Amino acid sequence: MLEISHLNISHDHLQVVWDLSLSVKEGEIVTLIGPNGSGKTTTVETIAGLNKKASGSVRFLGKEILGMPPHQIFKEGLALVPERREIFSKMSVGENLQLGIAGKENARDRMLDLVYSLFPVLHEREKQQAGTMSGGEQQMLAIARALMSDPKLLVLDEPSTGLSPLLVAQVFRSLEQLGRGGLTILLLEQNVRNALDLCNRGYVLENGRIVLEGKAKDLMHHPHIQKAYLGF
Ligand SMILES: Nc1ncnc2c1ncn2[C@@H]1O[C@H](COP(=O)(O)OP(=O)(O)OP(=O)(O)O)[C@@H](O)[C@H]1O
Ligand SMILES: [Mg+2]
Repeated sequence: MLEISHLNISHDHLQVVWDLSLSVKEGEIVTLIGPNGSGKTTTVETIAGLNKKASGSVRFLGKEILGMPPHQIFKEGLALVPERREIFSKMSVGENLQLGIAGKENARDRMLDLVYSLFPVLHEREKQQAGTMSGGEQQMLAIARALMSDPKLLVLDEPSTGLSPLLVAQVFRSLEQLGRGGLTILLLEQNVRNALDLCNRGYVLENGRIVLEGKAKDLMHHPHIQKAYLGF
């Protein structure tokens, strides 16, 4: 579904991602894990069309999307839950969800049912101003809004950052449920244990380069992962 090959990305004149190749097949949950500043956000923003200084190839459903404008990539079916959530704080929860529909009116009721069953708290707070909700609720809203477009691939940039352990568990449970429902997911995380528990396969990004890749359960037992990320 997603095939990234030999991607190089620069900010201004400084290259921050080097020769990155990664693939996500239909129905897979894949994680890209890496510490602060390793280039996770830079990579997803490039995939979503938000960074112009990149070379290489990003194919989505067989089509080259590198260089396409963000709204077109979104229309192709790739939805990003950004690191800063970017919900509309003055609007209600319900209005935020309606904004996520992106023209797919026929999917509205089905997707609204799905997001309210995944996140009942959003249903309870449909009329509440989004900016007055807790960080965890806002993260759920950001995920729910991205789902409203009925995406083919959901990309999440560190959805667990800043959440309490209880809410982290809830976010990961909802991703697991979405994966069981057949949704294809690319998850960027620093929460290595939870990410590897959830995913089929993973890639490890350090200083802008993929240093390890493999099945999640193999990565979990890899000495480098255990030492650098799991505190063994
Ligand atoms: N707009 C920008 N201009 C210049 N450099 C940038 C810009 N955004 C990010 N960088 C640099 O690119 C590198 C990768 O940053 P990026 O935000 O992609 O990492 P990250 O893995 O998402 O980190 P975090 O886990 O903290 O979110 C860092 O060295 C960062 O300083
Ligand atoms: Mg980031």
